[in-house]
Amino acid sequence: MATRCLLRTASLRNSIFLSTSYSRKQCQRSLSSLISLPETHQMLRNMCRDFADNEIKPVAAENDKQHKFPADIVKKMGELGLLSVDIPSEYGGTGLDYLAYAVAMEEISRGCAACGVIMSVNNSLYLGPVKNFGNESQKEAYLKPFLNGEKIGCFALSEPGNGSDAAAASTVARLEGDHWVLNGTKSWITNGYESSATVVFATTNKSMKHKGISAFLVSKPTDGLSLGKKEDKLGIRASSTCNLIFEECKVPKENLLGGEGMGFKIAMQTLDAGRIGIASQALGIAQAALECALEYSLKREAFGAPIAKLQSIQMKLADMEMRTESARLLTWKAAMLKDAGEPYTKMAAMAKLSASEAATFVSHQAIQILGGMGYVSDMPAERHYRDARITEIYEGTSEIQRLVIAGNLLKEFQQMNR
Ligand code: CAA
Repeated sequence: MATRCLLRTASLRNSIFLSTSYSRKQCQRSLSSLISLPETHQMLRNMCRDFADNEIKPVAAENDKQHKFPADIVKKMGELGLLSVDIPSEYGGTGLDYLAYAVAMEEISRGCAACGVIMSVNNSLYLGPVKNFGNESQKEAYLKPFLNGEKIGCFALSEPGNGSDAAAASTVARLEGDHWVLNGTKSWITNGYESSATVVFATTNKSMKHKGISAFLVSKPTDGLSLGKKEDKLGIRASSTCNLIFEECKVPKENLLGGEGMGFKIAMQTLDAGRIGIASQALGIAQAALECALEYSLKREAFGAPIAKLQSIQMKLADMEMRTESARLLTWKAAMLKDAGEPYTKMAAMAKLSASEAATFVSHQAIQILGGMGYVSDMPAERHYRDARITEIYEGTSEIQRLVIAGNLLKEFQQMNR
């Protein structure tokens, strides 16, 4: 059964690769025609759904319980092209677009949210800035080996003393001859344990505030870089999170990404794209929780009939479906704006805010429908509830998303009325 499924996914992958140019053309369509996904994206969605149902879901609870990094799944995600979805095929990536990435991220996260964040960090937060700001030799060393699951990367922006205020970085980099020397601690680093390189942000000129921040590519392991303890988290427990500690860590001069002082812009642009990934992860969690509640409500009987017949349950199911689908439309719209080269900062923040709040709401309601069975680990509802919570925190809290939305809205309004 598993082998049959793999063969099927392999041939689907080939068809997806063959139709890459078709998919790019498709995504130039106007946003108003978003009634159904383009054929390529539907094929990708089916492939990811089969993979998640057959290979990810069956081990998700155990990996969560054991805090076990899903190394085999990560390798297979790499083989299926899911770790480099929008990297152009000339570099060896899958060569699809961000809508494809959003669709794939949702399906993988529907199987396991921890696999989703591992995938998201490699695609958006690590490969994204290397693709967009790296020169050709940086791409050779830091992009190409990170496409197929052999190596994965991470992104180091937050610090113990600053999270939302990303401009307040206190990690410093000083130039000494041929090297930058980094000192400071980065925190909450997803993939921190397993990654072979990181994009790290450090200030090269403190007096210039955000304009003094630069981005660097650092290989792991490397002298002067050590890892903090693995965090014991509420959810997404199969992914690792830890501090990266830089102590007189020497980085070759040529590992500066973009120009000196460009770090803050690189971080902000990277997070815009990353937020589409986290919105999709949240959608996957919401969809999994909804399906769990639907299945249970059709089987569980009370007052002489399945509880799905009760209006009190139907009210919940209706709200769960509506919030999930609304957030999905925002997420796909954000991805399509990005694919069309349009500004998408506000839409990505709206997608992330709406999808993460939908995931929290839907997984909460799912437990309510399952009652006691929702509160124990025999059923996945409690895991979805725990996994949902982080989507309102990382890659910008819900409060930060609201600031970004309002800031952009005001700017748009002022420009329109000038
Ligand atoms: N794209 C490009 N440039 C941007 C931008 C964007 N989206 N947003 C802001 N900028 C630019 C501005 O244009 C401005 O440029 P100039 O100086 O040239 O005018 C500059 O950046 C400063 O802008 P602001 O004054 O708006 O910046 P701010 O200091 O007030 O901060 C913020 C803005 C939105 C609060 C930002 O700090 C932010 O997004 N914070 C949240 C950080 C975050 O999401 N952290 C998550 C870490 S990653 C993670 O979660 C780990 C993981 O592994 C999953």
